[in-house]
Amino acid sequence: MKNFNFYAPTKILFGKNRINDIGKEILQSGKRVLFAYGSGSIKKSGLYDKVVSILNQSNIPFVELSGIQPNPRMSSVREGVRLCRDNNLDFILAVGGGSVIDCSKAIAAGVSYHGDAWDFMMRKAKIETPIPIGTVLTLSATGTEMNGNAVISNDDESDKRAMGDDSLRPVFSVLDPTLTYTVNEYQTSAGTVDIMSHIFEQYFTDDQGTFIQDSIAESILKTCIKYGPIALKEPDNYEARANLMWASSLALNGLTVSGKLAGDWATHDLEHQLSAINDLTHGAGLAILFPNWMEFVLNDKTAYKFAQMARNVWNINESDDMVAAKKGIRCVRDFFVKLGMPSSLSEVGFKDEHVDVMADKVCMFGPVGMFKRLNVDDVKAIYQRAL
Ligand code: NZQ
Ligand code: ZN
Repeated sequence: MKNFNFYAPTKILFGKNRINDIGKEILQSGKRVLFAYGSGSIKKSGLYDKVVSILNQSNIPFVELSGIQPNPRMSSVREGVRLCRDNNLDFILAVGGGSVIDCSKAIAAGVSYHGDAWDFMMRKAKIETPIPIGTVLTLSATGTEMNGNAVISNDDESDKRAMGDDSLRPVFSVLDPTLTYTVNEYQTSAGTVDIMSHIFEQYFTDDQGTFIQDSIAESILKTCIKYGPIALKEPDNYEARANLMWASSLALNGLTVSGKLAGDWATHDLEHQLSAINDLTHGAGLAILFPNWMEFVLNDKTAYKFAQMARNVWNINESDDMVAAKKGIRCVRDFFVKLGMPSSLSEVGFKDEHVDVMADKVCMFGPVGMFKRLNVDDVKAIYQRAL
């Protein structure tokens, strides 16, 4: 295990009705709020009215930014930056899923930056002095509620890229599992795949002596395998929604990669280009790509780790590493299908002609991945086998 700093300062307010605390939490970090949300789910569920009433009762002035789309666009980021500057806002309250929260982080970083916030995604600018954000999470998936990352789409460039800095970690996040009861089956499944994928990205590394990290990772995978199908059958099952919600945060707050050199993240890089091209839901893209990545990188050197997952997560009783590894990957593939996720790119409208463009974008800054470095031809090969 390597030396590490573990820094996860977000205050988690977990449980039913914890939203009632946001007034006092906001006032610890800001006075004037940008209230950011998506395309209508919070109005339908009544959450919007609740937030407005709490802000009013707490005498917190606010301006709204609505209509933030899944795969959040730079146009919303620019609009949010303008609203913050024009109205002297010093805090962002993001109420929604990963897209609303990510958009809010990019706005937070963009307010004090003289250029265009897309520069952060293109590695042309450093994130400095963002305004603080707090979140009310409504979808268990990304882990953004407890980390410093944001992923933004740029329609002008047909591109989607990530930015990140510890200063973008929310100061607080409300995790009320009942707020996810209204998430539909498709998004519940995609979210579960996303949580599992974050674990895969940090589990499949060559680090040795990280038994505790791997054991936590395996528990989070087992949590998703147990509770994903229950949440699909019983959308208002509190236990299932609560376990998935906490799994979402723990899977990508730095916990399971601490003490390791780094995560892999190649599959995420490949997926972001799928979402950039046809607005595919992130978790659905991962469901297609991850089993293909696993099969592509499986070899005599990497088999031991896939075999470990097979034995500890999928209960595969097989002594030969390669045989166990293949069975474990099969289980991942079958589980994603059982969740109702697509299993091939052609199923969601991709054609051979997209492969070269996407692969070039994935490798724009050089090879990707850690468990196995992938050059542009490797990336093309994974897309091809996923077609
Ligand atoms: O826009 P609204 O009306 O709110 O509807 C959303 C949206 O249509 C709906 N939804 C959210 N909560 C709901 C609900 N519907 C009913 N009831 C609720 N309680 O669900 C749809 C999808 O929402 P979205 O926020 O896009 O989903 P998710 O949370 O999966 O976020 C996906 C985005 O996060 C990025 C992805 O790339 C994608 O852009 N990621 C962010 C990461 C991070 N910051 O650390 C890591 C991830 O790997 C990921 O890349
Ligand atoms: Zn993800």
